[in-house]
Amino acid sequence: MTAERPLQGKVALITGASRGIGLAIARRVADMGARVSLCARDAKRLEAAAADCKRTGSEAIAVPADLTRPADMAKVVETTEQRLGPIEILVNNAGVGHFGPVQDAGETDWDKVFDTNLKAVFLLSRAAASGMIQRKAGHIINIASLAGKNVFAGGAIYCASKWGLLGLTGCMAEDLRAYGIRVSAICPGSVATEFGLPGARDRSKMLQPEDVAHAVAMLLTQAPQSFISELSMRPTLKP
Ligand SMILES: NC(=O)c1ccc[n+]([C@@H]2O[C@H](COP(=O)([O-])OP(=O)(O)OC[C@H]3O[C@@H](n4cnc5c(N)ncnc54)[C@H](OP(=O)(O)O)[C@@H]3O)[C@@H](O)[C@H]2O)c1
Repeated sequence: MTAERPLQGKVALITGASRGIGLAIARRVADMGARVSLCARDAKRLEAAAADCKRTGSEAIAVPADLTRPADMAKVVETTEQRLGPIEILVNNAGVGHFGPVQDAGETDWDKVFDTNLKAVFLLSRAAASGMIQRKAGHIINIASLAGKNVFAGGAIYCASKWGLLGLTGCMAEDLRAYGIRVSAICPGSVATEFGLPGARDRSKMLQPEDVAHAVAMLLTQAPQSFISELSMRPTLKP
């Protein structure tokens, strides 16, 4: 481990790493020296993202999976640990939105958002935590949202999933901190990605994916006795 490569020798699994915030996090963590495992559904885009991460000089693998399928979850952890070693860092970033009046939303909309944004975080964290508990070390970072603290018209399902994610994060943190595992949440406001947030915004003023990656890097470089449990992020100027 060096000052430039503070995560040298560590293994990080990042979900939703094929584009947007997840790809920026994967790049940053790889640049800090970690071996990275990238997960998303689109295998082709994921391979390109892994190739991008390898340019930092760190090992990177693509592990395609659909996180709405519970059976895929254990496989993602198993494949990562077989190919790279024990997972010390898990970033639960994959997420989907659904925006529109609650009276027009269907049960399948609810299931898709909750299976991706909440159930997958529970299942994947549980799968990764068993090894972390044995090794008494680990970081689980959940990419939540300011939508997990606020309400707005058309946001019922998405906001509910992110409010739930903050509750899950806080409780997991209490269960796991005795084992030296820090479970934290980052709550960004609007970030300039392909994510279909409603409303026109000035993208040049929005948070960039690299800003969220910077927050992840901050959490991963805390002193062992320090536990920043939640970060809220806003753009300096309103978009
Ligand atoms: N953009 C914003 O304004 C904003 C603000 C606050 C919080 N967030 C949160 O930040 C996270 C990332 O958002 P983003 O803006 O980077 O979105 P994005 O550009 O749409 O990327 C979403 C990522 O999640 C993956 N994904 C979606 N469903 C999946 C599934 N079932 N299984 C596996 N992977 C899946 C996607 O890959 P595939 O499609 O290939 O599976 C993609 O890599 C989300 O949790 C989002 O809620 C975003």
